[in-house]
Amino acid sequence: MAPRKEKSVELQDPLHQAMWKGMKRAPMTLFKPIAGEKSRKLLLIVFALSCMIPILVMVFIVYQYLLPLIDTDVSGLLGSTLTYGIAIMFIFPLLGFFLMLRRIRSLENLASEIRVKSREVTNGQKAFCEQTIAAQSDLLPPATDDTQDAGEENEIQSLINSFNTIFQTAADQLAEREHLKELLASLIAVASDLTSELEFNRLFPMIIGRVTEVMEAERTSLYVIDWDTRELWTKVAEGVETITVPLGKGISGLVAETGQPINVADAWELPYFDRSFDLHNNFRTRSVLCFPIKGRTGQNIGVLQVINKKGQDRFDRRDEVFLKSLASQVGIALENSLLIDELKLSFNSSITTLSAIVDARHPLTAGHSMRVTEYSLLIAKEMHLGENEIEVLRLAALLHDIGKIGIHDAILRKEGLFTTAEREEMNTHPVKTRTILEKFYFPRRLRFVPEIACHHHEKVDGSGYPDGLNGDALPLGSKIIAVADVFDALTSRREYPKYADQEMLGRQPMPLRTAISLLQKEAGSHFAPEVVSAFLRCLPQALLNFRGEHFTPEYMDETLHRLAPESTQGVSGPWLP
Ligand SMILES: [Fe+2]
Ligand SMILES: [Fe+2]
Repeated sequence: MAPRKEKSVELQDPLHQAMWKGMKRAPMTLFKPIAGEKSRKLLLIVFALSCMIPILVMVFIVYQYLLPLIDTDVSGLLGSTLTYGIAIMFIFPLLGFFLMLRRIRSLENLASEIRVKSREVTNGQKAFCEQTIAAQSDLLPPATDDTQDAGEENEIQSLINSFNTIFQTAADQLAEREHLKELLASLIAVASDLTSELEFNRLFPMIIGRVTEVMEAERTSLYVIDWDTRELWTKVAEGVETITVPLGKGISGLVAETGQPINVADAWELPYFDRSFDLHNNFRTRSVLCFPIKGRTGQNIGVLQVINKKGQDRFDRRDEVFLKSLASQVGIALENSLLIDELKLSFNSSITTLSAIVDARHPLTAGHSMRVTEYSLLIAKEMHLGENEIEVLRLAALLHDIGKIGIHDAILRKEGLFTTAEREEMNTHPVKTRTILEKFYFPRRLRFVPEIACHHHEKVDGSGYPDGLNGDALPLGSKIIAVADVFDALTSRREYPKYADQEMLGRQPMPLRTAISLLQKEAGSHFAPEVVSAFLRCLPQALLNFRGEHFTPEYMDETLHRLAPESTQGVSGPWLP
């Protein structure tokens, strides 16, 4: 029996498959042409097949075969009865036909409306959000205040609702996509800013302005955390001065300490929010979104805070996603900025220490390079020099006498006048300055520091040293340092006596009035006249900067009052009544 069973299975398989293939194909071949027809035509076919043809066949049989067999009297009565009956048999199917036709017309109108509105969206004539399918009032029940049970909806209403939901969902998704595109564009713009702007003082305000715009907020603040002092301070704060907040205090302080973002609809409802700042600045903080900024090691290095979402009660989930992405980008720039600040600090402290070491070789020149630098910077600002020129000048002034490291102590610390040989050796210090500074690595933008420092003893008439440069061949930076250098030498105590018009004035600081006269007299021969003029304009500020530190009030106050009476208000002095 077993082999037969196997045989039947083997035989059955292809037949079975063929049978099922046929059965599966049968409905397809039957319904395919019907599915391809329009509903109205289909209704007509179905109506004819199911109602009209059977009735007509029946009428044909009755009148053709049955009535002739019946008695004439009876057949007349029966015929009229049958006529009425047949008429009624026609009326009800026709009624049903027209009811169905009406519904089909509504469906056709609906399909047409959907098609037109879809085409308008596809062609870009209208947005999804503008497209709503109107209710078919003739087929839908009147609207009531009660929420309709979904189960009671007829198919057309259900279809309309479904399409409206699809349109609305598509509109929402498009709006979401547009928003994401905007956010992406903003992130790309920020990334572009990060690579294009190397000056952090310009970069951060630029980025913060962009954040405020994209987040549709009123204000944005970027805080930097100082873990040593356990404070955070605003690197950029829109609309307000720099703010310092203790770690753990307020919204930003809490975010800085915990590393957890805060998104709140009304900051005033938070018990730890300090309203005094708002009250003092006539501002009302409402919604706040605050995110920590993490460094490469994962430590919190800053906080990004946006305040008061425009047009909404609070910042939403999308804002959180965006600000989080932005915080990570800003974090890279912030960390780089902090590293560069540290490097600058380290470089500056090295340079300042070097210049102080040179000055400290003689007790009477202590602070000389620092004062020369201060005077030089005042002149540079007075003459509206560029940012980079000022930085070059600052370094050159700080290091202008570093060549004195190579001068013997016996000469450098000598009391009294130099011999010719000693003077010659002393006068080698500018070249030594250049030689030392050329061994420093200065970035390209600072490459003129050695040259400018080297020529601080040149004179505009060409009689200076070491190269005897004059006029335009002499860098402006060197001309500025020359005035600052001589002014400081004249107004400081020196071991060698000072002279004015062959008159020896001694070793004490020269009277300010005499020093000023000397500078004015030497303008055009030793000094550049425009530099002397600029220096005399900022001299009151220069004197005030060192009042009590380098200049005694007795020494400077009278001159200060004479030069700039308005700047002496609040300064006590012997000339005051
Ligand atoms: Fe010098
Ligand atoms: Fe000097």
